[in-house]
Amino acid sequence: MSSTALITGITGQDGAYLAQLLLEKGYRVVGAFRRASMVNTARLDALGIAEHVELVPFDLTDHGNMRRVIEAVAPDEVYNLAAQSFVGVSFEQPVTTGEITGVGVVRLLEAIREVNPEIRFYQASTSEMFGKARETPQNETTPFHPRSPYAASKLYAHWTAVNYREAYGMHASSGILFNHESPLRGVEFVTRKISLGAARIKYGLQEKLTLGNLEARRDWGYAKEYVEAMWLMLQQPEAEDYVVATGESHSVREFVETAFEVAGLDWERYVVTDPAFLRPAEVDFLLGDPSKAKSKLGWEPRTTFRELVEIMVEADLRRAAFEARHGREMLEIR
Ligand SMILES: NC(=O)c1ccc[n+]([C@@H]2O[C@H](COP(=O)([O-])OP(=O)(O)OC[C@H]3O[C@@H](n4cnc5c(N)ncnc54)[C@H](OP(=O)(O)O)[C@@H]3O)[C@@H](O)[C@H]2O)c1
Repeated sequence: MSSTALITGITGQDGAYLAQLLLEKGYRVVGAFRRASMVNTARLDALGIAEHVELVPFDLTDHGNMRRVIEAVAPDEVYNLAAQSFVGVSFEQPVTTGEITGVGVVRLLEAIREVNPEIRFYQASTSEMFGKARETPQNETTPFHPRSPYAASKLYAHWTAVNYREAYGMHASSGILFNHESPLRGVEFVTRKISLGAARIKYGLQEKLTLGNLEARRDWGYAKEYVEAMWLMLQQPEAEDYVVATGESHSVREFVETAFEVAGLDWERYVVTDPAFLRPAEVDFLLGDPSKAKSKLGWEPRTTFRELVEIMVEADLRRAAFEARHGREMLEIR
């Protein structure tokens, strides 16, 4: 019999790629989404998998609802990808972020523990938890210093997953994932803002691109590869935490230069910076050490920084060309 996976945050970037991977592996994939007047299946549609995924409404603020969903779906594996995931918004909505991104995970783990503690659990932790990083590169033993309500909420969730593993013997693993991007990345995130901005400028749909801190440095990988590490973590005999990263860091400025070069444009003519886009507390420099993921999971990134920028800009150039020609957005975001 095939295994069943429940993915929260199925409508997000990682949810879509993970669903695709698990379907390829023969899983029954159930996607938990938050109830809205319309379900946003754009990313699942883009990958051509929407009709292969079962969808269930699910709310990270409602413990009873989660318990019933876990009972009804009876998953072998739960991947918790749902979160208020945008750092900038977390400064505007710190309490909501804490409720969903932090306490929501305790509710979910409690529901799993009550229904079936044998279910394997993946928690989407983040390099933002290292924040004002105490050492470079960051690995699984680097101390945390979160610099946003998002990062603080994720840290609470992270330690909760560790605690359920230690206290109840549950198979709960956290993937401390460094930034990972793709053409399915939300347009509010800086990489996608840049790739889409360059493409729209190229087609005369936009004049300028306004950004915040160009000197921030991140370790950027390709989301499609990062979901493979999530799955590998849940196949291990013992649950553990893993850093997932490329081991290379690049500045926002380098991302801009490369993206505009791919679009055939001189970035200095179009990019402006505005201090209004700076965060109350910035994270300047993150660089991950993925040695443990490599040695224990056999996981390694395959796509280079330049290839990633090319994949994103080329997808957005196709979208912008469509928009320029038809006067409306292309729904396809592959
Ligand atoms: N991408 C990265 O670089 C990165 C790095 C480290 C960790 N992470 C974490 O990894 C996870 C997946 O990232 P992503 O890039 O795929 O994020 P994303 O595209 O922003 O997706 C977030 C998902 O969470 C859902 N969600 C938000 N609030 C919810 C609520 N109250 N109840 C239920 N679902 C809710 C969203 O649903 P809607 O579609 O309805 O908004 C969406 O499906 C997130 O937890 C993120 O914080 C991401």
